[in-house]
Amino acid sequence: MSDFQTHASILEATGQKQLCQRERFEKVRTLVHSSSESACRGLAAEVASLIRGRAAAGETTVLGLATGSTPVPFYRELIRLHQEEGLSFESVTTFNLDEYYGLPRDHPESYFRFMCDQLFDHVDLDPARIHLPDGTVAMEAVYDHCLDYERRIVEAGGLDLQILGIGRTGHIGFNEPGSAADSITRMITLDRVTRQDAAADFMGVANVPRSAITMGVGTILEAKRLVLMAWGANKASIVREAVEGRVTDQISASFLQHHGNATFLVDEAAASSLTRFRFPWLVGPVEWDAPMKKRAVVWLARKLGKPILKLVDEDYNENGAGGLLASTSEAAYEVNIDIFNRVQHTITGWPGGKPGTDDSRRPERSEPFPKRILVLSPEPADALIGMGGTLSRLCEQGHEVKLVFQTSGNLRVADVAALNFARVVIEMAETSQSPEWESQTAYARSIVKAIDAKGEFGTDPDFVRKLKGLILRGEARDATSACHLRYHDNHFLDLPFYEIGRYRRFRFEEADAAAVGAILGQFQPHSIYATGDASDPSSPQAIAFRAFTAAWASLAGSAFQADSRVWLYRGRDRPFEAHEIDMAVPMSPDQLEEKTESIRRFMSINEEDLNAPARNREIAATYDALGMAEYEAIEAFRRWSPV
Ligand code: F6R
Repeated sequence: MSDFQTHASILEATGQKQLCQRERFEKVRTLVHSSSESACRGLAAEVASLIRGRAAAGETTVLGLATGSTPVPFYRELIRLHQEEGLSFESVTTFNLDEYYGLPRDHPESYFRFMCDQLFDHVDLDPARIHLPDGTVAMEAVYDHCLDYERRIVEAGGLDLQILGIGRTGHIGFNEPGSAADSITRMITLDRVTRQDAAADFMGVANVPRSAITMGVGTILEAKRLVLMAWGANKASIVREAVEGRVTDQISASFLQHHGNATFLVDEAAASSLTRFRFPWLVGPVEWDAPMKKRAVVWLARKLGKPILKLVDEDYNENGAGGLLASTSEAAYEVNIDIFNRVQHTITGWPGGKPGTDDSRRPERSEPFPKRILVLSPEPADALIGMGGTLSRLCEQGHEVKLVFQTSGNLRVADVAALNFARVVIEMAETSQSPEWESQTAYARSIVKAIDAKGEFGTDPDFVRKLKGLILRGEARDATSACHLRYHDNHFLDLPFYEIGRYRRFRFEEADAAAVGAILGQFQPHSIYATGDASDPSSPQAIAFRAFTAAWASLAGSAFQADSRVWLYRGRDRPFEAHEIDMAVPMSPDQLEEKTESIRRFMSINEEDLNAPARNREIAATYDALGMAEYEAIEAFRRWSPV
């Protein structure tokens, strides 16, 4: 048993629990699970017992439901309970939170369609008891429609349990910042951030509806029980604000603090910004191991705006980190030097290891040299966004680099790119007037026809997706050549989960792991680069990482694995914090420019992706502020090993 555990159990045994109240900054009950799946199993069990208990007493259960990627694993578990454990929904009435305004019910992105796909079509719910706002009511009828929705909820006996997700603006339902605590069902305008988050579903932000009909905050707070779910690091900061911050109409989820029976149900990544995880030394005794020391010292330096080597004893004591000094016989001076050196040693211009040198303090081994290096890019642009500069260096330093694009990314390619291609072929055929072009012309016309037929929001048939994937391959090869990668070192896996899925609803398949496993087994890399699993668990990045970890596990015991290192990089995700970095690869202004240029070669790139170089600059600025050398930019990596 560790000192910390001993300490905690002594406190507990002596009834002094308040001394280790790790949740004391949290103003609403927050349950943290290791994964969204385990959290959803618990919640589904609660819902099942509610339904069964009420049904046994001859009563109905009124459930408030949500859409989006968050509740998907919860609905899967409800379906499983129905199919395998006989849970019946005959006595259940449902009310959904919201619906996009202007979308008919059969639109692929309408919330009605979403609910049919994810739940309604798979359980024995009575269609007459299903309620969603109607996105097609005429503008002048919206007000009455909303009042009617409120009336129906009351007539059904009120919501017994309301399921919620949380948007990055802090919205519940679509109650964007500014929604009052007593607001009722109404039409609202969607926030810019919310529309951006939905952009991939709608093939571009311009196609995302501008407004929606949503239950109000007041409607939601009337529910007898509220459960707000959040998964992934992208939600971590808004979860912290809603749970630990003050109640404000700028974050409608914060109103849950005033509800007597509300729970935040989060996974570890979404909980990671809560004080008990981020600054555990501020809420109780901690085990001062090496990573915890680094984290506290880096935090202290950042908080006080001082370089590490200038921190003094009082800084530690006056800011809640006195326990660190007390835990050792060292003064601030020695602790500072130790942490300064550890941060310093993460910096290297030789991400593949520097041949012929002492590598005891370097992040990567010097031998073997050159190395076989496998870079996994979940969507085609990810590797360039996250590690374009490092990729360049690895190639220039003579390693055998293979870049594996795990998914085709074809859902990100705009119609116009496919249309342009088709029109070039048609025009080419017309100019050449040769009968040899007939089949190509027929193909090109079928592309134009399919895109016209699907309208603004329809889904592409497979042959259009295939073409879009090939267009993206071209862009990817072009972009990686700017990073000195050779044409044949680009490898395209087109993992099945992506080809059969849609954004927010991707689902891991065994075949995905098999495809990644085959590449690993063949290439036997000395180093592997992959994006971590911290993002939204249904994102292509999270599932592509899962395919890697499953493949890795299936290769356990193979000779190459023992000699292989895995580095995580961050593409579209939250960047690593300074204390999390195990390898920092600096970039000169020219190298940064080269990286920016390579990212721009993707036509489907958005504003946030183009911000990647700015994030690299921020990491360099943080290192500078900690007292390291001043670089233009840094790409950061974290060492991974299976738990
Ligand atoms: C959807 C809803 C929204 C979502 C939120 C999070 O019915 O009410 O509040 O819960 O936008 O969306 P995801 O789950 O896709 O991250």
